[in-house]
Amino acid sequence: MDIKAHSQHLTYTDWTVSETHLAPERFNSRETTFTIGNGYLGTRGSFEEGYSRALPATLIHGVYDEVPIVYTELANCPDWLPLVVIVDGDRFRLERGEILSYERQLDVQRGVLSRKVRWRSPSGITIDIVFERFASIADQHVLGLRCQVTPVDSESAIEVQASINGYPENQGFNHWELLDQGKTEHGVWLNLRTRSSRIQLGMATGIKLSGAEASLQVTNPPGYPTLTASFLASPGQTVTVEKLVTVFTSLECENPVEVACEKLAQLPEYSSLLDAHVQAWDEVWQKSDIVIEGDVTAQLAVRYNLFQLLICAPRNNDRVSIPAKTLSGFGYRGHIFWDTEIFILPFFIYTQPELARNMLTYRYHTLPGARRKAVHYGYKGAMYAWESAETGDEVTPRWLPPNDFYGEDIRIWCRDREIHISADVAYATWFYWQATGDDEWMRDCGAEIILDTAIFWSSRVEYNTKYERYEIREVIGADEYHEFVHNNAFTNRMVQWHLEKALYIYDWLGNNFPEKLNELDQKLNLSSGRRSRWNDIIANIWIPYDESTGLIEQFEGFFQLQDINLEEYEPRTKSMQAILGIEEGNKRQVLKQPDVLMLLYLMRQSQEFPYSQKTLEKNWDYYAPRTDISYGSSLGPAIHAILASDLGKTAEAYERFMQAALVDLEDVRGNAADGIHGASAGGVWQAVVLGFGGIQIGNDEPVAHPHLPHGWRRLKFNFLWRGKWHAFDLRPQEDMETRRHADMEISLPASSSESPNIRGFIFDLDGVLTDTAEYHYLAWQKLADEEGLLFNREANEGLRGVSRRESLLRIVGDKHYPEEKLQEMMDRKNQYYVDSIQNISPKDLLPGVLTLLDELRQAGIKIALGSASKNARPVVEKLGIANRIDAIADGYSVQRPKPAPDLFLYAANQLGLEPAQCVVVEDAEAGIEAALAAGMWTVGLGPASRVGEAHVILPNLADTDWTKLRAKLNDAAAQQQKARV
Ligand code: BGC
Ligand code: BGC
Repeated sequence: MDIKAHSQHLTYTDWTVSETHLAPERFNSRETTFTIGNGYLGTRGSFEEGYSRALPATLIHGVYDEVPIVYTELANCPDWLPLVVIVDGDRFRLERGEILSYERQLDVQRGVLSRKVRWRSPSGITIDIVFERFASIADQHVLGLRCQVTPVDSESAIEVQASINGYPENQGFNHWELLDQGKTEHGVWLNLRTRSSRIQLGMATGIKLSGAEASLQVTNPPGYPTLTASFLASPGQTVTVEKLVTVFTSLECENPVEVACEKLAQLPEYSSLLDAHVQAWDEVWQKSDIVIEGDVTAQLAVRYNLFQLLICAPRNNDRVSIPAKTLSGFGYRGHIFWDTEIFILPFFIYTQPELARNMLTYRYHTLPGARRKAVHYGYKGAMYAWESAETGDEVTPRWLPPNDFYGEDIRIWCRDREIHISADVAYATWFYWQATGDDEWMRDCGAEIILDTAIFWSSRVEYNTKYERYEIREVIGADEYHEFVHNNAFTNRMVQWHLEKALYIYDWLGNNFPEKLNELDQKLNLSSGRRSRWNDIIANIWIPYDESTGLIEQFEGFFQLQDINLEEYEPRTKSMQAILGIEEGNKRQVLKQPDVLMLLYLMRQSQEFPYSQKTLEKNWDYYAPRTDISYGSSLGPAIHAILASDLGKTAEAYERFMQAALVDLEDVRGNAADGIHGASAGGVWQAVVLGFGGIQIGNDEPVAHPHLPHGWRRLKFNFLWRGKWHAFDLRPQEDMETRRHADMEISLPASSSESPNIRGFIFDLDGVLTDTAEYHYLAWQKLADEEGLLFNREANEGLRGVSRRESLLRIVGDKHYPEEKLQEMMDRKNQYYVDSIQNISPKDLLPGVLTLLDELRQAGIKIALGSASKNARPVVEKLGIANRIDAIADGYSVQRPKPAPDLFLYAANQLGLEPAQCVVVEDAEAGIEAALAAGMWTVGLGPASRVGEAHVILPNLADTDWTKLRAKLNDAAAQQQKARV
């Protein structure tokens, strides 16, 4: 703790941030910086004794009340801080007298804010005053504040007044009506109610004094119950006043003021409450801490951002979620945006998933509001609010007043057009499920979220008959500088992705929880017509992507807009929108925040289209220089940090990372006074763990691909995946190399320390070398139509990698047929298929296949086919690759179908190789399972949800080659070694 970094009068150690100089012009932003909280409430860092320009606030999750223009806001709750010290008649305030020394410190490890002041009163008396406060996370309804006073040079008559201020304001607006107040033998209490939402709040407080004989007095001016202690203290004599506060609202109990008074009566000492609180923090940090060595500013800044997220994450409440400015300021009025799902949730999903679950359940509870919004706009299903509060109804202001007296009101279009929020919620729902395997929650809440928002999408997209494609018109994408665009690539692809997942969830429910599916079907109407429309949209929605260049057009016509060189505007301290105006900004190729790059970032997680290193490079080069990364949106820098780091632009990555990490500590954007930038804080975690740590899920467990910023000697964190903790302790690359070497020499048997000795490749046919799925589908469809059986494209999806017989059995479902009839139907389907594959030719080979086959052969690697199809041979011939294949295992080779290992063992045997010398390339879950059971290496093609068990996962074979594959297999092998050691 002896290393320190200084900046703007702040001093950082690895767990603390201190201010040693009071800068009045920074007063409000520092109130934000020094916010504390406990997941139930947040309290800004205002002073106990008051200050002329103070904006004190205590915000409690869920305590919303109506206001004009922005509909509803978190009501500033009664202030529990007031503690006035009067020294020989002079009231202690930092604007008066003289500050001889000053230090305010936030210790994020213990969750304690303290302040030490040596003050000379206007009448010349010097006194030391030390404050300390915490909001207990061990018991969320308890707040503790302690004040210690020590006269320095003369005996003083001191009075301490501890109060509750029942007149809190939201920037001039008071939400409360006072119901009642009073005293008990333990202290005083206040009972209030919000004006329109009629939420009742009870707060009680008591004080305890030690170190002097004091007289205690209770006064009860309206709305300001106060306890006063008066005493005499001589120089060096420290007198301690401990103020404990309890708070409840009618959201958690029926009679909050009674409960608050009872609780106060039962409270133990301040010190035991503090101990329990510190202990609870210790447990939180064990899970969530990140250790960085070699960069104290980064170390503290990362912990600080995590602290700010941890204190606003609802712990015992699943009807609330984290607002954009957390519980630390009035900005965005406590409204909840995509900031939570996309930026903040990953931190919780991978370190404290029960908290992520609370916040996602909030989205489940607000589905009724989302449905009302859909109805209002003339759509179906659930359309989430761009800005959401207690009910899920849309609360984005329709108009905002202009910045100057003579300007026009500004129409805010986000409520109508920034619709990607519904896919964002589905995205977080999906990844929460992937990371936790929480099937129960998916069944009870997640599925309904994903399916009902999918229904919204199918009513929102439009079919363009001219181009024969689906489109989404009149939207705002992630980049809010363009307010009326068609076919935003980010939105369109997220919708496509969302519908893919909706179909998956439909099948998953059907297979695992048919009753639940039935219930949802009744409630939402998930008819096959509706689902085939989803399929159709998936297949035909337009994504403005140019395959030849890899460039994605942000929306239709973006490239035609006037270009801009942002460097010409430097240096600046304002956003490009403030400089150009809304209209002019709309006309230019300038972005408020990543949009195409945001899409690539979100698809990077599962390596899905359009993500690839090449598309990333291409689009980075185009969009990064056109993005207002300094003053656009605070959501941008962390994402740029990650992508820059992927691209090996380490210096830029670090600069962006720091921009995000210091946004509130150093008020980088000049608006920290409005509250903590929650999304940026969440982005900081992602930048460190997913970016610099390079965590990816390979072979169903997290694997690090670190690229540490210059100077970082160590990066250490925990990552929870499917209920299992993975501890990562990363060092700079050179160190890693040497360590890995040393590890192996010491602990690995010589034979297993080498990379796998790959001698053969076994390829599945369908979906790997070629795609005859369409031919199979058409054949099945024809048969089903002839037999009057219900069948369609989605049902066909479930047949991937499934044998002919099993496929037929699934299609006939409950209907019973004699064996001969089944046989006849299989033959008939096969005949249709065989007829149709007559047209297969080399052009049906999937991209990348031919090159890979040739490379493998050149490297002396043998090649086999391992396909369940009885037509594999003719297909291989028609594809023109028969001469490149050394052995064929097909539908005639073995009895037991995949996932039994038989087929692949047969193929290896034909090649004369050991299983461990073979790599199987498969696109079906059952195929991967079979190959693993055979003891072979596996390359899975497709989403992790399907082939996640494979050693290496790729979207397809298009962008790979033998060298890359070998490197990935080596990594997988090393990972496996590590896990074994
Ligand atoms: C934000 C929007 C928000 C609007 C109204 C704008 O500054 O960019 O996302 O909806 O304010 O709160
Ligand atoms: C950003 C949005 C964000 C909102 C709330 C806006 O300025 O453009 O992406 O959701 O702020 O943080």
